[in-house]
Amino acid sequence: MTADDVNYPDYLALDELLALQRLRSSPEHPDELLFIVVHQASELWFKVIIQQLHALIDRLKSGDAELALWHVQRINTLMRIVAEQLSSLDTLPPQRFQQFRSFLGNSSGQQSQQFRLIGALSGMRDDHFVGVLKAAGTIPGPLQAALEMPRLEDLFHELAADRGKTLESLYTGPGPDPVFFLAEALLEYDQAFQRWRFLHVQLVERIIGPGTGGTGGTLGAQFLARSVSQRFFPTLWAVRAKLFNPA
Ligand code: HEM
Repeated sequence: MTADDVNYPDYLALDELLALQRLRSSPEHPDELLFIVVHQASELWFKVIIQQLHALIDRLKSGDAELALWHVQRINTLMRIVAEQLSSLDTLPPQRFQQFRSFLGNSSGQQSQQFRLIGALSGMRDDHFVGVLKAAGTIPGPLQAALEMPRLEDLFHELAADRGKTLESLYTGPGPDPVFFLAEALLEYDQAFQRWRFLHVQLVERIIGPGTGGTGGTLGAQFLARSVSQRFFPTLWAVRAKLFNPA
């Protein structure tokens, strides 16, 4: 096949792609299509975010702050897109979701391997995070490999140190430099990820209420609300306070 033979539907594998929205409800519930598409689209964006996180890690390791910044900016844009998509489900009233929820069985976003991988690549290593992964069974290879990598925040600190910078000097020294902008972009990534978590828990409360358990067997919104304040880069947040509360 030459490049001339490739057309839009072939290039994008549209026949396969558009056949993947397999509604489970019977009779088919008209709102289940939106529900599936938002999840599938989110997983596709997660795939690109994971690719970009790997690229970011490589750039940090090679000390290339400028290209690292480019990858973080792209990741931040994608996180905003994924978060904004959730709002389309605000148009799903609880009584309509209730009509097809039982067809989901035990399916739950909690089983999203890509979401977990994003967490691991972004530096989550705490006991709760790792405990949940272990409780779900054998940890898949890519996730295990990510857990064994240095934390993203530590890679940033190493890059800064190689350029003779500390976090304090970035924020208190002379004019902003590329490493400072990289620090701010990473902080923005934390913000964007937390915003996804917040919008998701708000959506869950709006649709199933604050006290309803999830299809994954958790306490639902109560469980999710606990992780809204989790951060990938605590030192980037802490350094700000030093300016206002000098020791
Ligand atoms: C009607 C809309 C939604 C409801 C009612 C809902 C409900 C829930 C609940 C209750 C949980 C906690 C685990 C459980 O017990 O199931 C959860 C987790 C999760 N959901 Fe959703 N969800 C919705 C939409 C979405 C969408 C569109 C995505 C996009 C991918 C998503 C991704 C996730 C992820 C990744 C988790 C795991 C979060 C974590 O462990 O921190 N959810 N969801």
